[in-house]
Amino acid sequence: MTHPRLARPQWWHDAVVYQIYPRSFADAHGDGLGDIPGITSRVGYLSALGVDAVWLSPFYPSQLADGGYDVDDYRDVDPRLGSLEEFDEMVAALHAAGIGVIVDLVPNHSSNRHAWFRAALAASPGSPERARYLFRDGADGGALPPNDWESLFGGSAWTPAGDGQWYLHLFAPEQPDLNWDNPEVRADFEHTLRFWSDRGVDGFRIDVAHGLVKNLAEPWPPQKEMEDWPRPDGSHPLWDRDELMNVYRSWRRVFDSYDPPRFAVAEAAVHPSRRARYASPETLGQAFNFAMQEADWRPDDFHRVIDAALSDVADTGSSTTWLLGCHDSPRVASRYGLPLIPEPRVFADLKGERPFRHDSQWLARQWLLTDGRAPEVDLPLGRRRARAAVLVEFALPGCTYVYQGDELGLPEVADLPREVLQDPMAGRSTREKGRDGCRVPLPWASDRHALGGNSFGFGSDGAHLPQPDWFGDFAVDVQEADPTSSLAMYRQALELRASLTATPPGEFEWVAGPSGLLHFRRGAWHCLTNFTDEPLPRPEGEVLLCSAPEGAAGGVPANATVWLRSE
Ligand code: NOJ
Repeated sequence: MTHPRLARPQWWHDAVVYQIYPRSFADAHGDGLGDIPGITSRVGYLSALGVDAVWLSPFYPSQLADGGYDVDDYRDVDPRLGSLEEFDEMVAALHAAGIGVIVDLVPNHSSNRHAWFRAALAASPGSPERARYLFRDGADGGALPPNDWESLFGGSAWTPAGDGQWYLHLFAPEQPDLNWDNPEVRADFEHTLRFWSDRGVDGFRIDVAHGLVKNLAEPWPPQKEMEDWPRPDGSHPLWDRDELMNVYRSWRRVFDSYDPPRFAVAEAAVHPSRRARYASPETLGQAFNFAMQEADWRPDDFHRVIDAALSDVADTGSSTTWLLGCHDSPRVASRYGLPLIPEPRVFADLKGERPFRHDSQWLARQWLLTDGRAPEVDLPLGRRRARAAVLVEFALPGCTYVYQGDELGLPEVADLPREVLQDPMAGRSTREKGRDGCRVPLPWASDRHALGGNSFGFGSDGAHLPQPDWFGDFAVDVQEADPTSSLAMYRQALELRASLTATPPGEFEWVAGPSGLLHFRRGAWHCLTNFTDEPLPRPEGEVLLCSAPEGAAGGVPANATVWLRSE
């Protein structure tokens, strides 16, 4: 029987979804790699945290050329992570706790070890095997790539097949792009959607949802022109083509053939004006909005991002998605500890109306690029602001995604030695450190040797990415014993949020206040955030929660959020 929480139609509209990066969450097998039984063993933790669903990054068989986003077989579990039976047990345990399961689908590319790609390489040019991917004849009699397009991970987007043809990969060479004009590819992915839906998964996160369908008609625009992105009109040959929606409309028929209907969230890095197409109830249902993750610690930035996100979804019948971090970006606690540049570098979108990238995001990237030598990161301040920011998200209408470890206020591990880096982005240029700093296995215990291992309770062995000594200070057991910890605040906030939204709260409204304060309300539930370094006065009312350990007796503390009940 479906748990009542998940039986609600469109339960995901206002869900809190916890992102699990399976290889770094919990290791039950004791081999240094997180796994499916590890997740099952931590259902109690997820339940106590109060999340509505988990999204699992890929757990499929993979050589890990891109952290599992290079899939060898879409309908199996990597044997190092478990088995299909263990997957079923995990789903049953999560469902029994009222927690939904969202799995990551990677349809833009398979891995080069997928049976189809092996067959394609073994077959000859023009064969049906090659027609599942995007092979083209090389230039100069096959000696050179067909054109100058570059992969998003650096280097040419083409790799030679060895017989004069080259295949397209917008990411790593181990990630050949599939040919979505081929009906066989379309049918196979519908099969995969049914395979996991039949096993009880509640939804899908669609990787690179704006890719898939491409127009490779010649003449090919040069790389320089390809960099004109995002576009408001679907005119790019590789990204956000109008034809994509035919694929998603047909997936919708699959989703709606289940009770309750399955849902999907698009990872679509598109022009804001195009996001609604992915979030429509006729296509995927929801689309990530990354603007909050890119907003700096400034009230105006938050105000703008919130207004834009709420107006974007107003007509779609969807709900917006708030998120501060994921497995692709520097940890929020570190990011908010970076200095703000007085003249923010705002890259406006094409209409020039919406913020696209702000300065601390830009700085954080520089920080990764410069071998982890951070420009003055004030970590206590960053962690304090991260706590304040997540209370803003939890108070807003819509769905919030929380990246594993952010509930602990974990900082970025910025100084991982080069030789341990796993991300394909690392090493493709001389300075790029890549995304491993936010993917280090979680510390569950302050004792490095808990469970007889060397991984702060992650498992009974080591950790596949090395954890620094200071990881123990952030461990779950330390935070469970401290009522002022980040974890304790998350638990309290989610419990309160559940009760405050049990009956729909009033309409979202901005409330005017002193400079430096962001204040909105939903009926009697007020959310006030102080972006300055001094306390600010607050209205009368019952303090429900304060992100700062010192509490809200003296007003809204500096760099903090207060939830207030006031008529
Ligand atoms: C987006 C995923 O979030 C990222 O981790 C991955 O590298 C690319 N898509 C390619 O699959």
